[in-house]
Amino acid sequence: MIAIGCDHAGVEMKNAVKEYLTEKGFELKDLGTNGEPCDYPVMAEKLCGEITSGNCEKGILICGTGIGMSIAANKIKGIRAALCADYFSTKYTRKHNDANVMCMGARTLGPGLASELAEIFLTTEFEGGRHQRRVDLITALENK
Ligand code: RB5
Repeated sequence: MIAIGCDHAGVEMKNAVKEYLTEKGFELKDLGTNGEPCDYPVMAEKLCGEITSGNCEKGILICGTGIGMSIAANKIKGIRAALCADYFSTKYTRKHNDANVMCMGARTLGPGLASELAEIFLTTEFEGGRHQRRVDLITALENK
C-alpha cells in the first residue's frame, strides 16, 4: 500500500498522480487533503506515521514546492524523504538512499511529469551493498 497526501496547494496534482498510479495497478491510501486548508507539517506527520507503523511501504507528499513537506517528513525517525523533480534524482534516491517518501511541488511540476516520477520512485529498488552502510549511518544520526 502506498500513502499519498498533500496540503491545499497540492490537491489537483495529488488527484492526478493518484489516478495515474491507480490505472497502473498501485494500491493507494489517500490521506487528503481534498480542498480544506491543511498545514503541510500536519500532513507530513500523518503520512509518515502510515509508514513507520508499517501500514504503508512508501509515501508521496505534495505541497506547493515540495520543500516544506520534505523538511517536515525528514524530522520523523525512520523517514528518508526526497524532494523529486527530475528522473535521475528520483531513480537514484531509491537506488542509493532507499528513500521511503517522495515529495513533489505542485507549483513547480506538471501533473504528467509528477505522475511518471512517482511511478519511477515506486518501481525502482534499493541497491543495498555499500549504500546500506550509508543508510545505516543516516539511521545512526537519528539516534544521536
Ligand atoms: C502553501 O501555500 C505553501 O507554503 C506550501 O504548499 C509549500 O509550498 C511549503 O513548502
